[in-house]
Amino acid sequence: MVGGLFSIVWVGLLGLFLCVVLHHFLPLLLNLRAAPRGTFGWPLVGETLRFLRPHASNTLGSFLEDRFSRYGKVFKSHLFCTPTIVSCDQELNHFILQNEEKLFQCSYPKPIHGILGKSSMIVVVGDAHKRLRSLALTLVTTTKSRAGYLNDIERIALHILGSWKKRVVFCEEARKFTFSVIVKQVLGLSPDEPQTGRILEDFLTFMKGLISFPLCIPGTSYARAVQARARISFTVKAIVEERRKNGGDSNNKGDFLDVLLSITNLSEDEKVSFVLDSLLGGYETTCLLMSMVVYFLGQSPLALEQLMREHKAIGANKKKDEYLNSEDYKKMEFTQYVINEALRCGNIVKFVHRKALKDVRYKDYLIPSGWKVLPVFSAVHLDPSLHGSALQFHPWRWEGQNQTACKKFTPFGGGPRLCPGSELAKVETAFFLHHLVLNFRWRPEGDDVPMAYPYVEFPRGLPLQVEPIL
Ligand code: HEM
Repeated sequence: MVGGLFSIVWVGLLGLFLCVVLHHFLPLLLNLRAAPRGTFGWPLVGETLRFLRPHASNTLGSFLEDRFSRYGKVFKSHLFCTPTIVSCDQELNHFILQNEEKLFQCSYPKPIHGILGKSSMIVVVGDAHKRLRSLALTLVTTTKSRAGYLNDIERIALHILGSWKKRVVFCEEARKFTFSVIVKQVLGLSPDEPQTGRILEDFLTFMKGLISFPLCIPGTSYARAVQARARISFTVKAIVEERRKNGGDSNNKGDFLDVLLSITNLSEDEKVSFVLDSLLGGYETTCLLMSMVVYFLGQSPLALEQLMREHKAIGANKKKDEYLNSEDYKKMEFTQYVINEALRCGNIVKFVHRKALKDVRYKDYLIPSGWKVLPVFSAVHLDPSLHGSALQFHPWRWEGQNQTACKKFTPFGGGPRLCPGSELAKVETAFFLHHLVLNFRWRPEGDDVPMAYPYVEFPRGLPLQVEPIL
């Protein structure tokens, strides 16, 4: 009797166990059959290490090349501890970016949340993202409408270039420049103020942690970065507080900090986090763009010559010491081609992180709910069927083409998360280039290739021998 009851309980438990297993794994098994072809690799780590293997940023890298040739432009893999669909297809990438919050959602790995903070724009979704985004767009319009906006950029460029001797590590110079510009735009601080130096120092520590192994114990880069973030927050809070105390119409500079202070629907933490996002988003990427331009121009004397002609013509119409203005910027047409081409070849942001919110059928593919989705921009930028002689730096390809983002050119992402700082990055690069090409000749010191780790870096910082043009 007891034995019979025991068997019934056993059978019941077994049935329950099977139900749970089937509930969890059946959809995965069915999805696996319907999802695009591909392999998962090792348990847990999957193919992450192979995916992250460093390669020159103007190439696909061996992982993508291999999967591309075996499975086509869309394939499945297991990356960042999650089943993943990797898309190297311009149409699918466009579809993913345009359907943000409907079918897909921004989803960066957890360690990034730990370091950027829970209110970071890169991390938040839904309404919180909408509120921060509208603030970012306000930053852009406020900055652009400020009379001294372009003059500030040019003054900082001249200050940096004025300190050049025979040899410079270009990435460091560009970083000083872009950091000074964004700190001026967002916090109203000049390069020589002590707080600027302090924030920059903390930011460099912060950046190292962002790309380090996420182990939060004392002494690791990750832990140091978390501390650096806390110090930056402290400094930023003090600056905001000082501005609040000195507030009032007479002191109202009408700059971004004043706008930030007047906003009521954001918490103090969100405001500080927003300032950090702007600083972070605004300087390293732009520094890389400038470095890419200098790197690729070094390989294309014809493009450099044409660029010099363009800037000489603009400079010829200016009085001594007269600043560049928005009309001059509009005349920098070939400069825009060079910038676009450096963005296409250099691939500063190789891919972005998304996840599927529900099962998504797209053409022949099923993207299962909950899976990670990675639209890979570099693969589209280097696709020879979309860009003739794709591996060649050829700025003239942009002649007569739409300059803004299109499906086959997405260096700034797309959809509701399109980079709000793209125009600032381009103006900074163009104005710096103006004074660089008019005042200096340069030669790379040895070979330094931009590498995708997958964050992009010049391993030696792009050292240059420079010589003033007298
Ligand atoms: C060459 C320079 C730059 C490149 C290549 C770049 C690239 C990108 C990309 C690809 C995204 C989309 C991320 C995603 O969809 O997950 C993005 C977002 C963002 N960028 Fe940039 N960016 C650059 C310059 C800047 C500058 C100068 C600023 C600040 C002034 C900035 C601030 C931001 C912010 C705040 C976001 C988040 C937008 C959102 O989530 O709605 N970026 N950037």
